[in-house]
Amino acid sequence: MGVFCFPAGATLPLHDHPHMVVLSKVLYGSVSTRSYDWVTTPVSASHSKSMDDADGLARMVMDNQVLEAPCKASVLFPRSGGNLHSFTSVTPCAILDVLAPPYAEELGRPSTYFSEMRIPSLSGFAILEEREVPDDLVVNGAPYLGPEIAIDADLC
Ligand SMILES: [Fe+2]
Repeated sequence: MGVFCFPAGATLPLHDHPHMVVLSKVLYGSVSTRSYDWVTTPVSASHSKSMDDADGLARMVMDNQVLEAPCKASVLFPRSGGNLHSFTSVTPCAILDVLAPPYAEELGRPSTYFSEMRIPSLSGFAILEEREVPDDLVVNGAPYLGPEIAIDADLC
């Protein structure tokens, strides 16, 4: 679980959430999001370090849809709901993300970034190609210092 705080105009590039369910909620401000689901998953995206042939066909779910607080939470699933997404903040904003299960490269759930190539003859689809972490991506982490979060084991 984490809260991503964006200055205006910042972008979190297109990335995936393999085998994960993610609940996202804009806490304040507004953000533009684009998302995709795989039609054909790139084999090497999750099974190899190779960048060769690490691309696949994806169907667009959201095309620069602006989410502005207050708004409902959105949920993405392993194969639907826009499992790959990018964010560009329209105003300073914060997004609460709850990931289940969390990223774990050793368990086959790495965080992978993609570049997108639209297909002019196939509206609503794109080829997504695995890429290195963008050089200009800066994510500064900070520990949670709020109230203790208690989990009722009987409800799990
Ligand atoms: Fe994400």
